[in-house]
Amino acid sequence: MGLLGDLLRRELKRIGVSELVYPRRFRCRHEPEQCAAVGLLLGRYRLCRFPDGAALVRSNTPCPEPLELRLEPPAEPRIYIDLGLWDLHTDAEKNELVEQIAASIAAMRGQLWDGNLVLARAPREFFERFGRAMRGMRHAVRISEGPPPSAAVYLDPEGPCLADEELLRSAPDIVVGGVVDKERVYKGATARLAASAGVPDGRRCRIELRGSTVGVPDRINKIIEIVLSVRFAGLPLEEAIIRAQARRDKVYRLMRELQREGPCVDPARAEALAQWLRADWKTLELAAAKAHVKVGCQSI
Ligand SMILES: C[S@@+](CC[C@H](N)C(=O)[O-])C[C@H]1O[C@@H](n2cnc3c(N)ncnc32)[C@H](O)[C@@H]1O
Repeated sequence: MGLLGDLLRRELKRIGVSELVYPRRFRCRHEPEQCAAVGLLLGRYRLCRFPDGAALVRSNTPCPEPLELRLEPPAEPRIYIDLGLWDLHTDAEKNELVEQIAASIAAMRGQLWDGNLVLARAPREFFERFGRAMRGMRHAVRISEGPPPSAAVYLDPEGPCLADEELLRSAPDIVVGGVVDKERVYKGATARLAASAGVPDGRRCRIELRGSTVGVPDRINKIIEIVLSVRFAGLPLEEAIIRAQARRDKVYRLMRELQREGPCVDPARAEALAQWLRADWKTLELAAAKAHVKVGCQSI
């Protein structure tokens, strides 16, 4: 259950509503209470008392008896996406960046809502592209012309500090670099962003999976999903990473592990690795082929 869904459920109980009726064709990718809470905060819906119970209704629907409740999302964490290097990107990468930010809003809504997401240093061109891509989308993402605060933690795959569960659960301001390594790899880009925000190196922290960043998803929305799963769903970091992995991430990590075992990998060992990453047989085969190792041959 998302944090806001929990909050809504408690508030409903407080005002004596035991069950909420949802509109027909209510679209929700999470628990209905979580989506309802986000919809209420965005002003897309309101709560209404009817003779036979309480219902969530679209804000343009007549409501004889509106129900008031206190839905106060926590001020923290504030998750920043620092777009200070927008201009470095190619046209295709800019579109990808917009897409990942739209997916980041969706990820935020699984636990919190848009109000906890801040787009920092976004240039006008970003908003033009974002507006075109998200036509008609109601959102409450916050905008900051300046950089994220210098007391923030920057998540950086090359950071000298290791982001552990405690840090991810407690940091009030967490920054993800608005960087997409699609046509080129922007090495050191997050470090550049952090330096220009006045954040010291010791607060650039990497997320690792058993001692390596290989296999940790690097999409902005996936990084946000990992942070929120650890912070609010109470998942261990390793579990949050494995759940967020795309097949590609599993292949990369399997390649690394198989190469370390190769060129002839014990099938039991290969299977254990695949099981750890919850990768299917096809994924394991693909990783073995890409890593130029054989599973189950006799070593000479
Ligand atoms: C595609 S990555 C860009 C990495 C960029 N090439 C660099 O070296 O800084 C986009 C953002 O995702 C986050 N990120 C990706 N992988 C990460 C990891 N393993 N640990 C921490 N943050 C990560 C960082 O905030 C990063 O700025």
